[in-house]
Amino acid sequence: MPIATPDIEFLRDLIARQSGNVLRSGQGDLIEVRLRPLAAEAGLENVEQLVAELRRTKSPRLADQVAQAVTVNETSFFRDIHPFNALQSKIIPDVTKENAARRELKIWCAAASSGQEPYTIAMVIREHFPTLSNWNVRILATDISEKMLARCSSGQYTQLEVNRGLPARNLLRYFDRSGSVWTVKPELRNLIDFQRLNLTTSWPITSQFDVIFIRNVLIYFDQQTKADILRRALRQMRPNGYLFIGSAETVIGLNLPLQREEIDGTVCYRHLRG
Ligand SMILES: C[S@@+](CC[C@H](N)C(=O)[O-])C[C@H]1O[C@@H](n2cnc3c(N)ncnc32)[C@H](O)[C@@H]1O
Repeated sequence: MPIATPDIEFLRDLIARQSGNVLRSGQGDLIEVRLRPLAAEAGLENVEQLVAELRRTKSPRLADQVAQAVTVNETSFFRDIHPFNALQSKIIPDVTKENAARRELKIWCAAASSGQEPYTIAMVIREHFPTLSNWNVRILATDISEKMLARCSSGQYTQLEVNRGLPARNLLRYFDRSGSVWTVKPELRNLIDFQRLNLTTSWPITSQFDVIFIRNVLIYFDQQTKADILRRALRQMRPNGYLFIGSAETVIGLNLPLQREEIDGTVCYRHLRG
C-alpha cells in the first residue's frame, strides 16, 4: 500500500529542513523505496511505522538518517569529462604559476558521493603534473551521506563502477585488484581528506580553495538555498579561484559575483575579487 499523503508531506518537509533537498509530492513512491531499508534497520515493519516513530520521538538522528537515505548518489569517473580537461589544460597550470611561492594546491569536492569525482581529480594531478609531487596538494571530499563518505574513503569499486568512464590505462596504473574489487592506490588516496558536511548547515571548514566542485547537487535545492550555498562557497575560495557546477545546473538568476568562463568545452565560474 502506498504511503498516505500526510506522511509524504511530513517526510518532504522533514527532508527539506534537514538537507535542503526539495522532493515533489509525486515522488512518494521513490521516497518509500529509499526509506524501506532504513525502516528495516530501525527494526520497524514499514515506512508508515518509520513516520510514526519520527513523529513520536522527534529523534534528530533518525531525521538525519532519513535525509541521507533519500539522497541521489549517481556519479562516475571522469563524469562529463570536460571539467577535467579544463583542469589539465588551463586551471592547474595557472594555479601552479600563481601558487609557486607557497607550493600549495587545494581543491574541494563538495558533493563527492562515492568518490569517483575526487579520485578523478587526483588522477589528473598525478598523471599530468609530476612537478606537484613535492607540493602540499590536498583534495577535500565532503558529502552529507555517511554511507557514501565511507565508500569514498574506502576507495573500493566494483568492476561495473570502474567500467564507467575510467580509461583502462588509469585503472591499471592507479588501482589494485583483489577478486572483483578494485582499490585505489595510496598514492591517490593520500591526496584526499574525507569529511562529512551538510551544505545547508554550518561548515567546519577553514581552508581557502583554488578550485571548488559543487556538481550535480544544486539541482536538489531551491533557488534561495542554492544562492546561499554558492555565496558561502565563494567565501572559501581564493581570489580568482574556479568554481564548477554540473553541466545541467545554472547560476542564472542567483545574482552572484561570478564571471562565466569557457575552457576546453566546459563552463566554469570565477570569483573575481581584490
Ligand atoms: C548526484 S551526486 C553528485 C556526485 C558528484 N558531484 C558528481 O557530479 O558525479 C549528489 C551528491 O550530493 C549529496 N548531497 C545532497 N544533499 C546534500 C547536502 N545538503 N549537503 C551535502 N551533500 C549533499 C548526495 O549525498 C550525493 O552524494
